[in-house]
Amino acid sequence: MTRASSMFELISEQDEERPYFETGGTGRSHEFYTGEEQHRREMARIYGRRWLPVDHVSRLKEKGAYSTLNIGTGSVLLLHGDDGIQAYHNYCRHRGYKLVEEATGKRQSLVCLYHCWVYDRNGKLKSLNGTYLDHFFEKEKNGLLPVRTEVRYGVVFIAFSDDAPDLDASLGEFGEFARVYELADLECVEAKDYPVASNWKLVAHNVNESLHFPTAHKDLHRITDFDDAGTYDLKGDIVGAWQSIRGGYNSVSMTGRSGREPMRLVPEADRQKINWITILPNLLFGFTADYVMMQWVWPESPGTCFVRHFWLFHPSETAKPDFSHEAVFALWDKANYEDWEMCERTHRGLSNPLWAPGQLSLDEEVVSQIDSWVAAECEDAPESSGAAVDGEGATEGSDTAVDGEGATEARKTAG
Ligand code: FES
Ligand SMILES: [Fe+2]
Repeated sequence: MTRASSMFELISEQDEERPYFETGGTGRSHEFYTGEEQHRREMARIYGRRWLPVDHVSRLKEKGAYSTLNIGTGSVLLLHGDDGIQAYHNYCRHRGYKLVEEATGKRQSLVCLYHCWVYDRNGKLKSLNGTYLDHFFEKEKNGLLPVRTEVRYGVVFIAFSDDAPDLDASLGEFGEFARVYELADLECVEAKDYPVASNWKLVAHNVNESLHFPTAHKDLHRITDFDDAGTYDLKGDIVGAWQSIRGGYNSVSMTGRSGREPMRLVPEADRQKINWITILPNLLFGFTADYVMMQWVWPESPGTCFVRHFWLFHPSETAKPDFSHEAVFALWDKANYEDWEMCERTHRGLSNPLWAPGQLSLDEEVVSQIDSWVAAECEDAPESSGAAVDGEGATEGSDTAVDGEGATEARKTAG
């Protein structure tokens, strides 16, 4: 197949008459960025309901490989079992002990450290390790509780509710970027989590605009041009922008140079670009010709979140004896700390109840798109379906959808 000359050829026509180009946008209220009620709605209507990207398949390659992720007050465990990757609620069915604390690993059985229930790699309760086996005990009804799981383009998705909007429709034009940058085949060579004391949306804003590069990121600004950038108008629940890499450099790294081959399907015009594409609500991809980044922001409370950052490279490069991702990691790890400081201080600033939002520039269209999308998801409450969503109205003891959904699943299994 011949290579397209640019990503613009592969995606839908870009509308030059967008309303944002006429007026720009504005930020939102103090309550929207810091409020408890807004947080509850987001956890219920977005994180408790929609398909959420949670991992990359390269981290779960072999049978028995697992990873964990805390979402809201809950935790999920991804396990590569005999039928592929499946997510479970990460707690022991006996009395609720959190089964796995480590971020990743590989085991053929998982032992609960409280009373030694043992689960196999398919989530089935294998043994009670001799602690007891009463006449009424039914092992098959006491396995780990599954969470809906799908894989697209090498990304693992989960949904806590039964009425999540269609995953493929939500992904819209994301597939074009995933295909060109060979996302399903890449290897995650580094993963790092960062705690951030700010609302998650402020981080989502920050990582989706390059306006702050000259003030915040000396190294990044030397290599990339914040002034030669633009916003895409993409189909699906995705937003995105592009930004050019300055002449004389071929890799977004501390050195700006790399001997890595550009990925073969990346269009000529995109070899000197970063394509920043976000799967809403919370996963940003930085697609470059020689590596790809995945960067999630996961809300914990109205004022805290954590960022999970992966760096992925093509296996034809990672197989080389002199492969190193050091210069790439060094740049972004430093930039990340610079960013979190910006986000935390912004959160402290607009924690003032008298915060009045200002005008956004043309370079901040994605900021405005993210807020509009979140606001729309929170306004349009789905009809009550008995899923997690009700947590938000229930107030007491159910901060997040994740709790509510766990209870729903448990009831289903028991019944
Ligand atoms: S809570 Fe896991 S064995 Fe008791
Ligand atoms: Fe930044």
